[in-house]
Amino acid sequence: MTNLDRAREDFPALQGSPGHPPPAYLDSACMSLVPDSVLAAMAEYYREFPGCAGRSLHRFAEEVGHRYEGARDAFARFLGAPDRDGVVFVRNATEAINVVGNGLDWQAGDRIIVTDQEHNSNLVLWQRLAKERGVHVEALELPDGGRWDGDRLERMLRPRPRLVSVFHTSNLDGRSLPIREIADRVHDAGGQLLVDGCQAAPHQPVDLARLGVDFYALSLHKMLGPTGTGLLVAPSATLAELRPLIVGGETVEWTTLTDHRLRPPPHRFEAGLQNYAGVLGARAGIEYLERVGREEVRAHDAALNARVTSALEDEPRVHVLGPAAPSERPSIFGFTVDGVDPNDAALFLDAGHRVLVRSGMHCVHSWYAARGLSGNVRASFYLYNSTEDADALVRGVRELIERIPAPAVPTPTGTSAAKRPSAARPRPSRRGAGSSAAAARSARPRGRAGRGRAGSGAGSG
Ligand code: ALA
Repeated sequence: MTNLDRAREDFPALQGSPGHPPPAYLDSACMSLVPDSVLAAMAEYYREFPGCAGRSLHRFAEEVGHRYEGARDAFARFLGAPDRDGVVFVRNATEAINVVGNGLDWQAGDRIIVTDQEHNSNLVLWQRLAKERGVHVEALELPDGGRWDGDRLERMLRPRPRLVSVFHTSNLDGRSLPIREIADRVHDAGGQLLVDGCQAAPHQPVDLARLGVDFYALSLHKMLGPTGTGLLVAPSATLAELRPLIVGGETVEWTTLTDHRLRPPPHRFEAGLQNYAGVLGARAGIEYLERVGREEVRAHDAALNARVTSALEDEPRVHVLGPAAPSERPSIFGFTVDGVDPNDAALFLDAGHRVLVRSGMHCVHSWYAARGLSGNVRASFYLYNSTEDADALVRGVRELIERIPAPAVPTPTGTSAAKRPSAARPRPSRRGAGSSAAAARSARPRGRAGRGRAGSGAGSG
């Protein structure tokens, strides 16, 4: 018996009801589900001490202030943050990245290096800075199949980049980058390192002091917390060099009609009344994760991913993105099925099998465009998923393959992606995609057909 054997029972969204069995929720890379304890923590705030921290002196305000700062301590411990004043509450990782990008003192000609696999949150801002501030944005090409080439990065680090901004674990194929090695190389070159930890911290232990990153961005709604909660974590001395993105109440020590003095970090970055319920809920989320154990979560994800990978490895029309070994992409099983539009596949899996996955380009349009792909299907695993969920996905994919004919133009290889780790392969013919759409629609149970295409907006990121 592991800590996870009964985890499903803690998640209201997985309880189902008479005649409505629970879904196989395989979209935690987008947003995780919340356990009862998170809901209870949020309700407790609104019921027991609904005040605003740091302003009034009454008991509600004192209590929430105490708990809000206690949550900051808890997150600092959870992530091994260099110091608790370097933990800033934000809405999500996108906002954290924007706080850094808008806060640094850019000079025209400064270099920013990203990978060619970053999602829009770690791309669009840099493009805007290129237009408005004259910085240069360059993309490190990551070898397909999950390999890491440190020499390739090393060659890009001369002349000195101002900032390197990369994912820790990819939302696209689940691979992780060697962050400690990257931090050492970037620092040797005189730059700073920003890491998007959204897909890593929910699934594995993260010790920021050991990793040595300058900035770490997180969305807590991917790690059992409520929506609209996130973190920017950095040494507080590093944060002190940033110009706050938003200023106002709570960010200042004093003001006159003509001037003000900012408070030190983290408060100068938390303008206005904060999401107290969300932060307290998110704290309950990491307490849940600590009880389970993040090593255990990683092993659980990897076991489910291995089950799906091995069940589908003899299907020549199924191609998996990223590393061949599921242990190197434990939380994500991203795949294409020859002749099947990814959005149609997602709709089919939901309607016919109650399997909830994400489809499309996962906010990484540039990566797919460079490979002529229209997107893929992504199943992502988390601690509440069961072997039944994994098997439901496999059944759904097999049925899809049976119902939808192979494309008229075969793909160049006859091997499954588990054997052929490269993600780069031609886009299935539109003829195949069209027939898949029709087949997927005809396979939907009554009552769902009017819901519209899963593709409308799917994956637009
Ligand atoms: N970046 C998030 C995802 O991958 C939204 O689903």
